[in-house]
Amino acid sequence: MSPLWDLQKTYADRVKAMLHDRLGRAPRACVRTFGCQQNEADSQRIEGMLSQMGYSFTGNPEEADLIIFNTCAVRENAEDRVFGNVGELKRQKEKNPELIIGLCGCMVQQPHITKRIQKSFPYVDLVFGTHALASLPELLFQKLQSRRRVFDIHESDGEIVEGLPVRRVDGVKAWVPIMYGCNNFCTYCIVPYVRGRERSREPEAILEEIKQLTANGVKEITLLGQNVNSYGKNLERPLSFAGLLEQIDALPGDFRIRFMTSHPKDCTRELIDAIARCQKVCRHIHLPVQSGSSRVLSAMNRHYTREQYVDLIRYAREKIPGVSFTSDILVGFPGETYEEFLETLSLVQEIEYDSLFTFIYSKREGTRAAQMEDPVPYAEKSAWLRQIIAAQEDIASRRHEALVGETLRVLVEGAGKHPGTVQGRSDQNIIVEFPGEESLFGSFANVKIERAANWAVFGTREE
Ligand code: SAH
Ligand code: SF4
Ligand code: F3S
Repeated sequence: MSPLWDLQKTYADRVKAMLHDRLGRAPRACVRTFGCQQNEADSQRIEGMLSQMGYSFTGNPEEADLIIFNTCAVRENAEDRVFGNVGELKRQKEKNPELIIGLCGCMVQQPHITKRIQKSFPYVDLVFGTHALASLPELLFQKLQSRRRVFDIHESDGEIVEGLPVRRVDGVKAWVPIMYGCNNFCTYCIVPYVRGRERSREPEAILEEIKQLTANGVKEITLLGQNVNSYGKNLERPLSFAGLLEQIDALPGDFRIRFMTSHPKDCTRELIDAIARCQKVCRHIHLPVQSGSSRVLSAMNRHYTREQYVDLIRYAREKIPGVSFTSDILVGFPGETYEEFLETLSLVQEIEYDSLFTFIYSKREGTRAAQMEDPVPYAEKSAWLRQIIAAQEDIASRRHEALVGETLRVLVEGAGKHPGTVQGRSDQNIIVEFPGEESLFGSFANVKIERAANWAVFGTREE
């Protein structure tokens, strides 16, 4: 356990007592998360700390004594959504002046955003950046005691605080962060500025957390990091990501291991070989390519060419039969031409991903790409995006068709879209729906595939 959390626990106890005196009942919190799985995992820690302070949870902000938005800065529309939602809280604060409104996460780690909140959103009480997460009990204590607004947006390369309580609602799947931050500085991306430099958790802490989760019945562990392939480089006793995977794979129990995100520049053949050897690691690699043009990739500072990427995929498909690839695509990077966009389209057609996350470039203040000429109009970029999406829908339908007749092992996650069905994912991360009951939730089932659509495949359970 970290000494920082020991100190914070004493603040948590004080907050609990203060709130009990003021409200005469258990306080209620509403935590909303914007952004990626890292933020989801952070929110589980925020809720864990709030539980320690006596809070119960509600999805309805109208019922809450404390509202926290954990924000994302990756694209402008993510930020606009947060500001829109914060704007809506003004009336609620007028009705209930005791309501505490907090903003945290990547977006508020940016100085220009903090200034805007200071000036234009006076009813926001508490603002804390990504590096201040573990100090939440102390910050809330300050707020309750002084009644003044509290801001903590310090810069840091971040100590890792182990031992924070985590509130997990899902008993079947769990996120486990293995590293924080990013050193890559892709020229379009804000993440390294708001999350600081790469730092890895000690393998012992990760293994212990996974042991506990699987002992409590969790069936799928997703290891998280902005670039999991550079895990362990800065540990006192360096360990590669491949080495970590093998250690997790050797733990007892019937569970699956997933991970994200892999950066292609650090995805080594050693790692592919390790995935092929591991029994529990899913045959699915999310390997964001961003662009199919080597010129654009270089301008993005991605450190691989189209040819290197294609070679890597070829190697993985040889070593791991049936491996599935998914990717992120960014269209309309500053200076990207139509011909360069077509190279991305042809790469998507050549690789045949199972699914894609597609984005239009969004200018982020402070990044290198924000200084670059960006002459292509947004409407044209949108048309490019639509072409990629249409091509991908065809590819996904075809790939799903090819699964008809196969039997897939599915981890059942919940009710399906159609009445009387359940749904889950295969180890290649493909959505599978089949007739079944609630008693199957959280268990593995073998499903014979009979029919396919572009978003899922359908079948019947085999005994
Ligand atoms: N660390 C991961 C990506 C994290 S951000 C990786 O390197 O693969 C998730 C995705 O958001 C990125 O892969 C990229 O496609 C997209 N993205 C990042 N910055 C963006 C920007 N400025 N505009 C649009 N999309 C962006
Ligand atoms: Fe952003 Fe690149 Fe880091 Fe991913 S690897 S978080 S895209 S800077
Ligand atoms: Fe967004 Fe921060 Fe994740 S910027 S994508 S929430 S790391």
